[in-house]
Amino acid sequence: MMTENHMKMQIPAYGKNESFARNAVAGFAVECGPTVSELSDIRTAVSEAVTNAVVHAYDEERAENLIEIAADIDSDNTLTVSVRDFGRGIADVAAALEPFFTTKPDEERSGMGFTVIETFMDEMKVDSAPGKGTTVVMRKRIGGNARS
Ligand SMILES: Nc1ncnc2c1ncn2[C@@H]1O[C@H](COP(=O)(O)OP(=O)(O)O)[C@@H](O)[C@H]1O
Ligand SMILES: [Mg+2]
Repeated sequence: MMTENHMKMQIPAYGKNESFARNAVAGFAVECGPTVSELSDIRTAVSEAVTNAVVHAYDEERAENLIEIAADIDSDNTLTVSVRDFGRGIADVAAALEPFFTTKPDEERSGMGFTVIETFMDEMKVDSAPGKGTTVVMRKRIGGNARS
């Protein structure tokens, strides 16, 4: 049976920290014995959530604009990752979750970030309010190679 485990880290919302964040979570998840494909799904989902915090939550890249990332592994080999920011927040979460919805169509955003997270993980929840920031919680059961 997998030992429960937990990690939490805080990084500034810098674009350059996106690859660090996705690799840190992937490294943490290795303990679950993920397949290459599961690990790639986790990287992709974390990347989308962190990129959103960098691009949408804050107006500029400043050291005090933080992203908090936490991950848990529970006893049935489920990985839960939360990506939280303390920025602008989302007024209409249901609209933001719609495929192709983006508030930055002029830049190269596709509006598919949340859809990608939902596709690659088993579960996703978005908690957000204007001025209070956004928390994206995503969950995936790591089963491909599960060891007992
Ligand atoms: N962390 C966040 N803070 C504020 N707004 C966000 C955040 N994440 C997503 N959003 C809003 O939700 C919309 C949809 O996000 P997403 O599906 O990733 O598409 P995209 O990033 O390509 O616009 C964004 O355009 C933005 O308006
Ligand atoms: Mg996005």
